[in-house]
Amino acid sequence: MSPSSSSPILETRKLGMVFRGHRDVAALTDVSFQLHRGRALALVGESGSGKSTCAKILTRMMPSTDGQILFNGEDVTRPGNRKEVLAYRSQVQMVFQDPFAALNPAHSVRHHLSRPLALHKPNLGYGEREDLTAELSLMVGLDPAETLDKYPYELSGGQRQRVNLARAMAVDPVVLIADEPTSMLDVSIRLNILDMFKPLKRDRGIAMLYITHDIATARYIAEETAVIYGGRIVEIGPTSTIIDAPRHPYTRLLLAAVPEIGRPFGSADAGLVREADRVRAISREPGRLAEVAPGHLVRECSASFA
Ligand SMILES: Nc1ncnc2c1ncn2[C@@H]1O[C@H](COP(=O)(O)OP(=O)(O)OP(=O)(O)O)[C@@H](O)[C@H]1O
Ligand SMILES: [Mg+2]
Repeated sequence: MSPSSSSPILETRKLGMVFRGHRDVAALTDVSFQLHRGRALALVGESGSGKSTCAKILTRMMPSTDGQILFNGEDVTRPGNRKEVLAYRSQVQMVFQDPFAALNPAHSVRHHLSRPLALHKPNLGYGEREDLTAELSLMVGLDPAETLDKYPYELSGGQRQRVNLARAMAVDPVVLIADEPTSMLDVSIRLNILDMFKPLKRDRGIAMLYITHDIATARYIAEETAVIYGGRIVEIGPTSTIIDAPRHPYTRLLLAAVPEIGRPFGSADAGLVREADRVRAISREPGRLAEVAPGHLVRECSASFA
């Protein structure tokens, strides 16, 4: 299904976030995107571009200072009471970057998986809860007999991230927000971990926001990609278009730094890499987002680069 033919589950409209301090920080400006059932959007940007701020606002860990969030068409922008926010969080779950920090060292894997079940599905009997716990474990590729009685320190980083994902899935969310879920893991297992997300999209219709600084991995998991810099989306569209035919100089700069994508230094974009500072400067400009093809938007900027 194309994104335009279904209504979004989660949508941001001109989201803005200013952190007030002795120097105000505009962490997000004019951020609009949609998440759809069974699809993933990659939010790609370098450190400090506003990715985690966006994730925190979407999970309602903090309110935005501007713009709107719609969940199933309903405005959920305002902070809401505790009950509302808990109900929302059971539908919009987050997987964090640091798999160790997210688990309690005093509790077994079984506890980590059965507790959210006990909280969100209080009517389940003990046996049903045990069955579901085993099922969740299998879903993320962990053998229940081997894993459920272990403690976080007895697991590898990749296994811990699997437990985190199983825990997020325990409450049957419709949206999963994964903030750099593989960046703290060994390069050799990153794709295995990303692989776990694919059936969740395909078989369970999960809508996913995949946050990463690594544009090359977007192709692996996400149908759409948004490139963010300085809190503004500079380009958004189908991932294949963004990677194969990028239009914004900043997107091209990100891609030029990924040799395996086929634009190594020395290629056409080598000049762009030499002018990286100027590319970043113009990428902060508040230009209009122009639709250059259906579903492909590029922010206008004052300079073009060969
Ligand atoms: N609580 C806060 N108070 C003040 N400024 C903040 C706060 N949280 C984030 N910022 C600022 O907002 C900007 C965006 O930060 P954010 O953590 O969203 O970036 P990020 O894209 O997730 O970066 P990284 O890739 O390093 O995780 C940064 O300039 C950061 O310093
Ligand atoms: Mg972050």
